[in-house]
Amino acid sequence: TIEECRKVLTSEIKTFPDWPEKGVNFKDVQSILFNPELASITSHYLKELLPKNKKNEYEFNKILCFDARGFLFGFDLAKIANAPMILARKPGKLPGELITQTFQKEYGTDEIQVQEGLIKPGDKVLIHDDLLATGGTAGAAAEIILKCGAQIAGFNFIMDLTFLPGRKELQKYVPNHKIKAL
Ligand code: PRP
Ligand code: MG
Repeated sequence: TIEECRKVLTSEIKTFPDWPEKGVNFKDVQSILFNPELASITSHYLKELLPKNKKNEYEFNKILCFDARGFLFGFDLAKIANAPMILARKPGKLPGELITQTFQKEYGTDEIQVQEGLIKPGDKVLIHDDLLATGGTAGAAAEIILKCGAQIAGFNFIMDLTFLPGRKELQKYVPNHKIKAL
């Protein structure tokens, strides 16, 4: 069950205290990837969290995923939903015309970039990342989607660090039930 999956994830994901900075507890997705059974359970239940309508159809037409750890399971979800996948990358990684969004991170400011033309008005874009911490990264994606005139279909994470205000930050973009995490 999803509860069992949550329990296993909590016990198996290795935490590195005070990394990359003092006060930050790094949750290492490597622990999931190194355990094929856990990786496939994670993928299975992440899929269960995808937004669907009453007809059991996916309620998004594109999925945006983050450099770097968001790519790992994001690609899996994109294939499952048969949805175009959009790479949101760290600065300097993408060619062509770009949309750039600056945001506050758990440790410092940062920027993410998406190639222009991938998100169109009327799109319903699902945002996936491995981890919700302060919500800075996911919020930046939400801003990019809105700038493009598209809708935010929801958020999908492996982990939500519930002691941080990430979920609260994202509630200005979608109702709470559209922010899903294992
Ligand atoms: C981590 C994590 C999320 C983000 C969450 O990424 O993978 O993307 O931080 O933090 P936030 O909610 O406070 O924005 P990181 O920037 O460490 O890079 P990586 O994915 O490339 O390892
Ligand atoms: Mg990341």
